Amino acid sequence: MPVVTATEENIDRAAELIRSGRIVAFPTETVYGLGADATDGDAIAHIFAVKERPSFDPLIVHICAREMLPSLVTTIPEPAAILARRFWPGPLTIVLPKTPIVADIATAGLLTVAVRMPDHPVALELIKRAERPIAAPSANLFGHISPTTARHVVDQLGDRVPLVLDGGPCRVGLESTIISFIDREPLLLRPGGLSLEQIEALIGPVRQAASGEGPLAPGRGSSHYAPRTALTVIEDPNEVSQEERSCAALLLVQPLSEEQMETAAGFAHIELLAEADRLEHAAAALFAARHHLDRGRFQHIYAVSIPETGLGRAIMDRLRRAQNG
Ligand code: TXA
Ligand code: MG
Repeated sequence: MPVVTATEENIDRAAELIRSGRIVAFPTETVYGLGADATDGDAIAHIFAVKERPSFDPLIVHICAREMLPSLVTTIPEPAAILARRFWPGPLTIVLPKTPIVADIATAGLLTVAVRMPDHPVALELIKRAERPIAAPSANLFGHISPTTARHVVDQLGDRVPLVLDGGPCRVGLESTIISFIDREPLLLRPGGLSLEQIEALIGPVRQAASGEGPLAPGRGSSHYAPRTALTVIEDPNEVSQEERSCAALLLVQPLSEEQMETAAGFAHIELLAEADRLEHAAAALFAARHHLDRGRFQHIYAVSIPETGLGRAIMDRLRRAQNG
């Protein structure tokens, strides 16, 4: 198995692979990425092939310093600059008009490019040593759950990747928040690891894209995060009959109230992601829980919904996509 601990030496090996047009899986604070040289179209073609990703689905380009941004985009509106200064490195991706340096296949032929600076020492060091921007989607097969551990990457991609850098579990656990600055008003294309509230506090109101709005963005495709075991979002455990419960798992993002807990008896398994008011822990645990519940041979997974504020927005977004599978 091509998994190695992300030591200095192995990061060097990975950087050398990137420089020679190969692909490498690496950790970021959000999820593991499958990277290649963003300026090399042939290298990027490997990513699409390995992931079985349709060529109309553009990739995010990763940088290790804000100074790299002007080489990738033709203009940086002030609100975008403000967000980059405040939230990079971090789980924020901004979409701007691209320069010719970025390979056309990386952006699926769009005239725009999505850029982010990840908040992970291994990712930053890899980009630095590769001496070029790295285009990377999440390191999963197309339509599957994003990997938050090196193990998840290997389970899905196995021998198709020459090297997987293991940097431990991802801290954030949800993909980055994507904001487009292509039109005059900023547009939220995907809720993610950085909350909309934090963004709006700096640049004012951000419109949320309606489903299907904006450029084709299949990370937003409605069933992108679908697992094998069907999942349904419910308001209350009472919605599930006693009979169904015996072969179903109940997924709780946060603890139920005591009264609600009494109504939750009889499920084959209850998976609690985090303690009350620890949504960041729940986000970090969500995909790993989905990976293992998916292998648990339950007939169904029922997830109890939470309010859509802060990280709750991205968590509910991912649960709803899972449900559409
Ligand atoms: O946290 C993340 O964003 C992770 C890590 C690896 O950085 N990456 C990730 O990549 O989630 P991926 O490929 O799974 O999702 C990228 C999303 C897709 O929905 C894609 O359509 C959208 O970004 N995207 C990329 N370029 C775009 C563009 N020019 N305009 C609009 N959407 C774009
Ligand atoms: Mg993805």
